[in-house]
Amino acid sequence: PIDGFSFDKDFFNNNPLERHASLDHHNPELVAPLSFLSEYWSTMGDEQRSLAFATAAATLKSLPFAVTTMSQIVDLKGLGSGHCLKVLQETLDTGSCREVVAKRDSDKYKSIKSLTGVYGIGNSVAEKLYTSRNITRVSDIIASWGCLALHDERIKYGVAYYGDLNTPVTREAAERIQGVVRRELDQVAQGCKLELTGGYRRGKSSGHDVDLLVCCGSNDEDGASVSSVRSAGVVGSGGNAGTDGVLARLLRRLRHTGLILHARLDRPPALNEAAYRKQSDRVSSMDNYEKCFCILKCPLQDDWTPDPMDDIQTDLSSLVTSGQNGDRGWRATRVDLVYVPQHQWPYAVLGWSGSKLFLRLLRRYASSTLGLVLTSHGLWSKDRGRLLPANSEQEIFAHLGLTYKHPSQRNF
Ligand code: GTP
Ligand code: MN
Ligand code: MN
Repeated sequence: PIDGFSFDKDFFNNNPLERHASLDHHNPELVAPLSFLSEYWSTMGDEQRSLAFATAAATLKSLPFAVTTMSQIVDLKGLGSGHCLKVLQETLDTGSCREVVAKRDSDKYKSIKSLTGVYGIGNSVAEKLYTSRNITRVSDIIASWGCLALHDERIKYGVAYYGDLNTPVTREAAERIQGVVRRELDQVAQGCKLELTGGYRRGKSSGHDVDLLVCCGSNDEDGASVSSVRSAGVVGSGGNAGTDGVLARLLRRLRHTGLILHARLDRPPALNEAAYRKQSDRVSSMDNYEKCFCILKCPLQDDWTPDPMDDIQTDLSSLVTSGQNGDRGWRATRVDLVYVPQHQWPYAVLGWSGSKLFLRLLRRYASSTLGLVLTSHGLWSKDRGRLLPANSEQEIFAHLGLTYKHPSQRNF
């Protein structure tokens, strides 16, 4: 017992996946510097360090008591090397941490942070812009647009809607998006599922985007074609070459209605089982679903309807001016639309509900402890490649020999 709490430290240390990580926890002051350092290293492009601090933060989030002295935590698994302990010690002693303050105020971090805030710009492009072009802010990108040769089309829209896309999306807005997508989806196929996943499914009240999974099951010809393809030994994308899938038709409707500002349809080739498993071995959250990364107009009010004649600009200067319009009735919002074949649904929901760290731990546990490969498509044994089907998330946890964890407890 620590300070009157009965706390099974051995169980805690030996079963990180059995920990509960809810949004409300007992240690916000100690989690903050670790979360910042995780975010700092992710922004600076060092995913390994970022992961180490995220793991330490998750360890403190799942403690059932508020930490008051170092002796309560020195031997907890997940806090890593001495570095995290030093940060925690200083935070407990002084209420803040000098390393965190210095990093937060560093010019390079502030610049890279603003640049990676542009949709379509990742760490490596940001680093190049900062280092070799002396670009530190979005206004610098606009000023030098002509000579920067940024070929990824997303960046233009990321710049134009920078303000909107860096404002958190409330749950209310996410549900409004779900509503407008639902309305158009019903026009292209009957009886489809449309699930709001990502952080909202874990109970978060805001997020950076809206993650929507679509499944039309056997009510749709895609479902039928996918299962016939599948019986021929092919799994993967919800669409198939030649015919237009639900997602393509949904996109066409959304565009026609005037809701789409930008969309990139990602239609990976169908893979046979062997190639597919090989691809799944990469420790990555990427999957092989047909999906669309879009920027949609999110209505600010329920009764707003888009003007289909309101043409979307395509050159940056007019985009930037149209993007500034204060009371246009909508806000640019990042939306991920993913088409999932019915038999893979529970795996897709689990994979897209996150958190990223929770899924990473789950995949690593499946792989190193059970010798299984877990992806957003399914669960395979490494040697024989047998697929373990599941009809629910509960069945996936059961396959893994773990207690079912409610989404609200997956905020690692
Ligand atoms: P916010 O959007 O910032 O609120 O957080 P989030 O938890 O919703 O994160 P995000 O939208 O980035 O991703 C949601 C979940 O989907 C996470 O668990 C990711 O690992 C997962 N995810 C994101 N992109 C992909 C992808 O391309 N493939 C797969 N399989 N999963 C992805
Ligand atoms: Mn999300
Ligand atoms: Mn997303």
